[in-house]
Parts: sequence; structure tokens; C-alpha cells
Amino acid sequence: MREVVVRVKDLSVSYSRGQYAVRGVSFEVPRGDMLYILGPNGAGKSTILRALIGAVKPASGSIELFGTPIERFKEWWRIGYVPQNAMSQLSRTSVSVEEVLRASRIRGRAMDVNEVLRLVGFQDPGSVLKRPLFHLSGGQFQRVLLAISLINGPELLLLDEPTAYIDVTGVSDFLKLITRLNRELGTTVITVTHDVSALAAFRSSKVLCVNRDRSFFGTLGEVIASEELCNVYGFHVLTLGHGPEVVEE
Ligand SMILES: Nc1ncnc2c1ncn2[C@@H]1O[C@H](COP(=O)(O)OP(=O)(O)OP(=O)(O)O)[C@@H](O)[C@H]1O
Ligand SMILES: [Mg+2]
Repeated sequence: MREVVVRVKDLSVSYSRGQYAVRGVSFEVPRGDMLYILGPNGAGKSTILRALIGAVKPASGSIELFGTPIERFKEWWRIGYVPQNAMSQLSRTSVSVEEVLRASRIRGRAMDVNEVLRLVGFQDPGSVLKRPLFHLSGGQFQRVLLAISLINGPELLLLDEPTAYIDVTGVSDFLKLITRLNRELGTTVITVTHDVSALAAFRSSKVLCVNRDRSFFGTLGEVIASEELCNVYGFHVLTLGHGPEVVEE
């Protein structure tokens, strides 16, 4: 049996009394797996990731990270996190790629900056190292954010809409990059995404669909096969149904 890296049981989170951002969510992610979190705007997807990094406290339910209840978990370097809209917050700074990567390093754990940039697809890291963040394109910026989250060699990676600023053709390349990192490094990855059609080829992918007080944990194939599930979680069943044929890994 593989170690369960994330175990969430009956999680509910409330920002204001009597109103739940998510309710009754349960899922497990074994080491080396990938999970996509899907659902409409305001469904609670980011809230789940925030709960996993301890930034919001559950109203009820439990979270275990690497087998330890989150209340006692201290090894936060084992987790890399890219928040939603990180780009809009960082993209106006004149800090260079090299400076932000060096500032993120934990001594004794971190990868070399050139190595991590190569890992996220910059074939010539030297060409990007000295550039200020505001000089980067949307796709380059997302790769740099991914590099920041990877630099200390996390075992679990949490990505909140990492493809939000990437054009349609770039999205599937970016998802392939994440899949490659998962395979080559064995990193467990949880990705929040709206780009369901880019995933349609991977029907065996594990998904957690959320819509506030409803959730479904299963495979994308099960969602595609059920008009009811598609309706609850806001997918266009026809778009998905006509996506590329099953291309299993
Ligand atoms: N800091 C906060 N304070 C109060 N309410 C919040 C806060 N953050 C989120 N919410 C509310 O919780 C609900 C879920 O928000 P969340 O950001 O988790 O949704 P989401 O699924 O990530 O949406 P999106 O696809 O738009 O990113 C929403 O109704 C939102 O308004
Ligand atoms: Mg969100």
C-alpha cells in the first residue's frame, strides 16, 4: 500500500457563521498520484487548498498530511504551493527571476536555480535569470512560479489554477509539464483547474468535483459519463463527450 499523502475526511470550512464555503468533502491522495480539483466559480476549490496549507481552519472534519493530523504537522517544506492570482500580485515587481528563486531557497534542501528552471522547461536558463518578473509573458511567469514552488524539492505540490494566464495551446503543454514532473520526480500533485477540456483525454484521471455543499471524488471518466454530475459541477457534457478519444497513460 502506498502512503497516503493527503487524507481529508468530511471537511467543512466556513468564513462567516452559518455559511459554508465547502461542506462534507472527503478524498485521499496516495504518494505519486495526481488529483484535479474541478468546479464552478465560488465552489470552494481554493478554500480546500488553503485548508491543506493550514491558512484556514476547518469548521469540522479532519485533514492529515503525510499521516500526521494537520494540527501537529510542522514539515511545511514538504509542500509547494502556488496560490491563485499569484501572477497579478507579483507581476509588477522589478525583482529578477534569479533574485526571487534565491530568496525562496531553504539552505540544505534547495535545488540549483539553473537546474530548477530547466526542470520547468527553460532550455536556456541564462536567458531568463536576470529578467525582472514584469518582463515575463504569462506562460513564462507560470513556469517561474512553478520553479519557485519546486525549488526546495517538495513531495506534495498544490497548484491553484496554474494555467489561468496561458493561452489554449499552452494549457495542454503546461498540464503535460506537470504530468512529467509528477512522473520524473514522483511528486504528488493537486491541481485546481477550469481547463476541463484539456483534461478530457485523461479519463482515468482522479478528480474531485466541488460545488459548495456537494462533492464527488472519482475519475473524470465517471463525470463525463454522467449528465447529472456534469450539471451539478458545471461542465458542458457535449464538449467533454466530443473531446479526444480515451488516451490512457
Ligand atoms: N477570505 C474570505 N472571506 C470570506 N469569504 C470567502 C473568502 N474566500 C472565499 N470566500 C467565499 O467562499 C466561497 C468559496 O470561495 P473559493 O475562493 O474557495 O472558490 P473557488 O472555487 O476557488 O472559486 P474560483 O473558481 O472563482 O477561484 C465563495 O463564496 C467566496 O466568496
Ligand atoms: Mg479559486
